[in-house]
Amino acid sequence: MDYQSLLQDIRTYGSKGWAIIYGVSGAGQYERSAEGAWVTGHKGKPFLDCGSFGLFMFGHGNSKLLAALQDLLSHGLSGTSRILCHAELAVALKNLVALTPAHLQKAMLLNSGSEAVEAAIKLCRLKTEKRKLAHLSGSYHGKTAGALSLTDHAGFKADTHPLLQDVVRIERGNTTELETVLAAGDIAGLFVEAIQGEGGIHPIEPAFLKTAQQLCRQHGTLLVADEIQSGLGRTGKLWAFEHSDIKPDILLVGKSLGGGIVPVSALIASETVFSPFDHNPYLHSSTYGGNPLACRAVVAVTEIVQAKNFLPDVERKGAWIENALHRLHCQFPDVLSAYTGFGLMRGLHFSSNTYAARTLEYCLKTGLLLSPCLSNPTVLRLVPPYCLERSDVDYMHGILQQALDHCRTLQEYS
Ligand SMILES: Cc1ncc(COP(=O)(O)O)c(C=O)c1O
Repeated sequence: MDYQSLLQDIRTYGSKGWAIIYGVSGAGQYERSAEGAWVTGHKGKPFLDCGSFGLFMFGHGNSKLLAALQDLLSHGLSGTSRILCHAELAVALKNLVALTPAHLQKAMLLNSGSEAVEAAIKLCRLKTEKRKLAHLSGSYHGKTAGALSLTDHAGFKADTHPLLQDVVRIERGNTTELETVLAAGDIAGLFVEAIQGEGGIHPIEPAFLKTAQQLCRQHGTLLVADEIQSGLGRTGKLWAFEHSDIKPDILLVGKSLGGGIVPVSALIASETVFSPFDHNPYLHSSTYGGNPLACRAVVAVTEIVQAKNFLPDVERKGAWIENALHRLHCQFPDVLSAYTGFGLMRGLHFSSNTYAARTLEYCLKTGLLLSPCLSNPTVLRLVPPYCLERSDVDYMHGILQQALDHCRTLQEYS
């Protein structure tokens, strides 16, 4: 199929907006194949994938994952009756729980990150018998009605109000506000991303998170760590909250949990917090939640992240990236004003929206995929897979260097 007809069909039968976005951002190519850290366009153009909104932590077409899924499909159980149980579910739950700190003992499998957030909202309310929920400024928790209520960016909400009532926003890093809100004693759950993703790759200060945990304990609020983007090793630790040494009551994971192939997410909680779902399994469920294929993906992913070299590899590669970003920042401080993040979750902070947009566009045309932060347009996300090679980092550095230089040229002529 040629590129224009493909866009035309999307425009006619789907969202015109998406067709426009693909038309502008597609560099004249649609994706045809992908392997490891690389995506190939239909005309054969290679793109190094440091974007994809953090989905491909384990690379495209990870062989371990593919083998696990193919094995399941070739043995005939791809769906489930949901009346009979299946062995895949037991293994996936057990493996996933084993990956988390000892106080988190029970898991529920769902399909998307937002759905896991919805489950957490219910659990907080059911468990604490309180109604209010709190989130931080710059948060992103998804776009279903409940999750959107906890997402900061007004642009995502447009005219969809009223969303959930009783939601309180706390300024990120503002301990006084945190204390005032939690001291009221009526907050069921405080939702945090230890490193905010969509909001602009902002690591939350460990001291702030520690205080949040202590206040939550004191005032009967459940602390929910949304690790949908940052979890499973992306930041160099298995869970981003480990950088802060906190113990969340509920942990949410998604995105890479399905290896970028199968949609799957999970909520994991302590036995006490999970109890409402123990007593009534119908309080939250989904037809595809915990299906055998998703479970196989979860099992494969848990095995990948437990390999001896996995986390050291993320750290080593993260250090290559850190070094490359440091050099770029020193060379172009007027364009790249800062960089943030850990491991393979990095934010490039530009001194203007225009520079960020130009860099995104330049990289795309030249063969490097980055992800924008839609709610924070001066920041680009650099979230590559862990199978990145040294030569890939050199390639990334080279393209970014050209892009930043290009921005500087634009500045000179403006
Ligand atoms: C931190 C965080 N929470 C929740 C979500 C929502 O996940 P999904 O898009 O799978 O619904 C995302 C997605 O980007 C996310 O980054």
